[in-house]
Amino acid sequence: MSDAGMKARPGGPLRGRVRAPGDKSISHRALILGALASGETSIEGLLEGDDVMATARAMRAFGAQVDHLGQGRWRVIGAGLFNEPGDVIDCGNAGTGVRLIMGAAAGFAISATLTGDASLRGRPMMRVLRPLGEMGAAWMCREGGRLPLTLQGGELAAIAYRLPEPSAQVKSAVLLAGLSAEGVTEIIEPEPTRDHTEHMLRAFGAAVEVEDRGDGRHIRLAGGQTLAGTRVRVPGDPSSAAFPLVAALVTPGSEVTVEGVLLNPLRSGLIETLREMGADIAITNLRQDGGESVGDVTARHSALTGVVVPPARAPSMIDEYPILAVAAAYAQGPTVMRGIGELRVKESDRIAMMAAGLAACGVGAEEEPEGLIVSGTARANHGVKGGGLVHTQGDHRIAMSHLILGLGAQEPVSVDEPGMIATSFPGFDALMAGLGADIGAA
Ligand code: S3P
Repeated sequence: MSDAGMKARPGGPLRGRVRAPGDKSISHRALILGALASGETSIEGLLEGDDVMATARAMRAFGAQVDHLGQGRWRVIGAGLFNEPGDVIDCGNAGTGVRLIMGAAAGFAISATLTGDASLRGRPMMRVLRPLGEMGAAWMCREGGRLPLTLQGGELAAIAYRLPEPSAQVKSAVLLAGLSAEGVTEIIEPEPTRDHTEHMLRAFGAAVEVEDRGDGRHIRLAGGQTLAGTRVRVPGDPSSAAFPLVAALVTPGSEVTVEGVLLNPLRSGLIETLREMGADIAITNLRQDGGESVGDVTARHSALTGVVVPPARAPSMIDEYPILAVAAAYAQGPTVMRGIGELRVKESDRIAMMAAGLAACGVGAEEEPEGLIVSGTARANHGVKGGGLVHTQGDHRIAMSHLILGLGAQEPVSVDEPGMIATSFPGFDALMAGLGADIGAA
């Protein structure tokens, strides 16, 4: 992919079967837990995107041996601890990578300096530094809790921490720090978020208790537990599968199957919402794989109707609102998305970016402080006009969403900085081309 821009041209139906790349959340965790563990961890299906590759380099810098054995196959030989890195660690664009690494590193008597690209250096880190500080870690950072920052860890004490924001990254950082803390670390989540860290800690031999109570989900982890290397099979990323699936929904005559998609209920909010909109989505070959539900997901072109998305569903589809906004643009009537303030602190301000991108393509979108309302174009039967050049501010999901928007539009849609797509979905344009989509250099 070149960074000269990329263009999606409206064309014929999309047809075929594809595999989504490995899940990004699980890929980061497999490398980090593998490095914290003693012995060998073998990973299959690792996402080889830029974000995860930055985490692989970081794990080497903390002293783990990380080897690439073949397509998606990796071996990590952990030292059972983190050693002090000899240089600044660059986490690239990866919020998950840097925040989980902060939690893991805080447990050891080392000093680590972390940074990232311009987008990551603009994102809030206080949400992780605050609880790590309560546990006893020290840090220095830029104004507003921004990277670069230096973390000094070791001698942590367990805390009980009620998550102020529904963030799996914060939960995971505190749990990873809790592994090395004195006492029992407890997280209370008012709204459950993705639970891959809990699942994977168990797979590496740690005891994690989860209990749903009136005030939310309580997750308890005793400090001083050691991890043992294991085998991890990474399922397909539902957040990436969302792009070809929505492409099929909005392009007449299409039928696309994405195989091996992670269907963990804390990640499946988009499928639920699309079905409420009238999407023809079928799940087959549902199975358990590596402790997670996995299935093949088929989407056929459908007449969609706008819906009000329940705000409580947000954590289970937080990365999918940009592509949901695209489906909403093709629907009849408005789609109302509220309780999504967290989208403003992702790789870009995704509420503002979607509103601007849709407007550039002739779709009405109204921004709220913590919401987005998209006016569907199907009612007046005028369809999506397209024709825009969308500025993505280096946000991979904003780029992919607008390229999908272009497939069913009247005029092509272009995006700048398509190179960023490789952070989460390397080979996106080739995979889409294999289905019959006309996506290529602008
Ligand atoms: C992730 C959690 C979410 C999500 C991100 C991946 C994770 O972020 O947006 O892409 O792997 O834990 P928050 O924890 O900030 O909501």
